[in-house]
Amino acid sequence: MAANYYQTKESVQEYIQLAKDVNGGELIKKLKEFLPSNSTLLEIGSGPGTDWTILNADYEVVGSDNSQEFLNYLKSKNPAGKFLELDAVTLSTSEKFDGIYSNKVLHHLKDEELSSSIKKQAALLNSNGIICHSFWKGEGTEIFKGLFVNYHSETGLKVFFDPYFEILLLESYAEFEKGDSLLLIGRKK
Ligand SMILES: C[S@@+](CC[C@H](N)C(=O)[O-])C[C@H]1O[C@@H](n2cnc3c(N)ncnc32)[C@H](O)[C@@H]1O
Repeated sequence: MAANYYQTKESVQEYIQLAKDVNGGELIKKLKEFLPSNSTLLEIGSGPGTDWTILNADYEVVGSDNSQEFLNYLKSKNPAGKFLELDAVTLSTSEKFDGIYSNKVLHHLKDEELSSSIKKQAALLNSNGIICHSFWKGEGTEIFKGLFVNYHSETGLKVFFDPYFEILLLESYAEFEKGDSLLLIGRKK
């Protein structure tokens, strides 16, 4: 399997097909309990834009990805949308946001990269800014379809986020099977 699964036209098309029936609608309902409509929101790793479309109905959303293939696809499907080429670790933008969202993206970061990302997210948020991120729940790491996957536990995520965020919600949910995923919502300290 290609090491750059999210970067080639063929594998991006394959991912779009595989993921066509999956979306973060339930996660976004929870986000709405904490982040008011019309807030500015950065999505990290927008991929095919399924969640971006749902978020765009309520928020001033800016999509992003580090894959040029996904960015080309997003821009062609949403010509009026705003998209940035951003890596989840460095998040090199001078824009500020009220919220930051990702759905099954940050598990691609190694522990030290996740720590850098969290610190940068806090810097990009306005005061009392909200984060909403999902992860695969479990232990250890693996390579899946050539991609690094870092599994997390509730306790482990608390340690990562606690220095910068008050945790408002941290719960497991089913993406494919009971308890395979974790949702974390936090407020900037
Ligand atoms: C599971 S998909 C996300 C799907 C998206 N939530 C949706 O609604 O369709 C993961 C996305 O994260 C992106 N990604 C992976 N690692 C990244 C990184 N370090 N920085 C930015 N984006 C990344 C991939 O290119 C891919 O588009």
